[in-house]
Amino acid sequence: MLTLTPFSAFHFDGMSILIAATSNPGKLAEMQAYLASLPCQLQLKPPDLDIEETATTFLANACLKASQVAKALNQWAIADDSGLAVDALQGAPGLYSARYAPTDAERIQRVLTELGDHPHRQAQFICAVAIARLDGSIALQCEGRCAGEILTEARGTGGFGYDPIFYVPEYQKTFAEMTPDEKHRISHRGQAFAQVLAQWPPDFPSALPTIP
Ligand code: IMP
Repeated sequence: MLTLTPFSAFHFDGMSILIAATSNPGKLAEMQAYLASLPCQLQLKPPDLDIEETATTFLANACLKASQVAKALNQWAIADDSGLAVDALQGAPGLYSARYAPTDAERIQRVLTELGDHPHRQAQFICAVAIARLDGSIALQCEGRCAGEILTEARGTGGFGYDPIFYVPEYQKTFAEMTPDEKHRISHRGQAFAQVLAQWPPDFPSALPTIP
C-alpha cells in the first residue's frame, strides 16, 4: 500500500509560499537568492501591513516582524534585521543604522565624525533572521556577525550602506572593495542565511513530493 506523508503527494507543481516581511523588492530578491536551493517561493508582504520595529535587539526585531506578518496573513513568514555596531560608539548606529542620517553618504560621515581619531575602531555587522509559522510562533531564529574595523575615510565603490568604511583585516579590503561573492561568503547576512539553510524548519510545508 502507498502511504503518503503530510504535504507530500499533491504538490508536484509548485513551491510553498513564504512571505518576506519587507516591501522592498531588492531585499526580497537578495533573500530569494540565499534560499535558492530550497523549495520555497518568497512573496513581498502587502505594503499597507506595517510592523513597527519596537524591539531592542536585531534578533527580537526579526522575530517580531516575522511573527506579526505570519499572523496577519495566516502564512509562513521570514524577516531579517541588520545593522552596524561600532564598539567605541557603544554599539551605535546599531538598531538605528538605516535612520542614522538621511543618505548613505551622510550616515557614513556621521560615523566618521563621531569616531574621530579614536584608536579603537573595531566594529561588527550583525544580521538576524527569523521564520514564523501561521500562528506567529517562531520556527527558526539565528544571527550572523562579521567583525571588522572602521577606516578613517571611505574606500571602494561596491555594495551599499556603510560598506566603504567597513574594513575586514583578513581580506585587506572594505566590503565595498569586495566582489559580491566575496562579500556574501563572509558577511553577516551570508553567515545568517547559511544558518537558515542548515536549520531550515522541518515542519515547513514542503511542496516537493516525497516517494514513500
Ligand atoms: P535593515 O536590515 O533593512 O533594517 O537595514 C539596516 C541598515 O543597516 C541598512 O540600511 C544599512 O545602512 C545597514 N546595513 C545592513 N547591512 C549592511 C551591509 O551589508 N552593508 C552596509 N550597510 C549595511
